[in-house]
Amino acid sequence: MPSYNSGPVSDIATVLFAEEEIRRRVEELGAGIARDYAGRSPVLVSVLKGAAVFLADLTRAIDLPLRVDFMSISSYGSASEESGGVVRILKDLDQDIGGQDVIVVEDIIDTGLTLSYLMATLRSRHPASLEVCALLDKSVRRIAPVDIRYRGFDCPDRFVVGYGLDHEERYRNLRLILAVEDLPAFQADPDALVTYLGGPAVPDPTSTS
Ligand code: IMP
Ligand code: MG
Repeated sequence: MPSYNSGPVSDIATVLFAEEEIRRRVEELGAGIARDYAGRSPVLVSVLKGAAVFLADLTRAIDLPLRVDFMSISSYGSASEESGGVVRILKDLDQDIGGQDVIVVEDIIDTGLTLSYLMATLRSRHPASLEVCALLDKSVRRIAPVDIRYRGFDCPDRFVVGYGLDHEERYRNLRLILAVEDLPAFQADPDALVTYLGGPAVPDPTSTS
């Protein structure tokens, strides 16, 4: 079996963050949040759909009473285009966040335009506090400054997929995060990365050999 969790997986993509590396970092982020919010019960606000995978793991790494809520927004244009930060709310929060400790959970911050718009919207509802937890920070691409209190990893200026991040709605269920090295080749062959679905071979406990 090829070395699934590290090194180049094809000429089209390379492993940026392996499954175990992500797991460890999410645990650290969760522990940090639990420390900082001890005695409080934050509301984790997540933006569909990319952040859902990260949120699911992060919540279970935070040993505090907490609540989650979701927003769905559309930034006019697809992820690989510049959105210009013009955002439309498709689904708003179910809860009133006035007076609450809110943590916005994001998968990746690229230009920061989407998030800065979202932060202004949330701030206008007068939460007690408002912070950001982002798994990936494509800091070199930043246009709108955003203050990221909890950051998983700095991310190179590459298109990435996996662990919630998609390419045209696919590959969100990759357990690792791949950086696309040859975007034209990937766009020409969007199936090129399916071999990286599924985890490393798990030993069968019933097997005698
Ligand atoms: P921003 O407004 O430019 O910061 O856009 C951030 C959003 O763009 C993220 O929430 C993702 O949905 C999407 N995005 C940015 N970079 C990538 C990427 O490399 N892969 C997949 N989606 C991305
Ligand atoms: Mg997103």
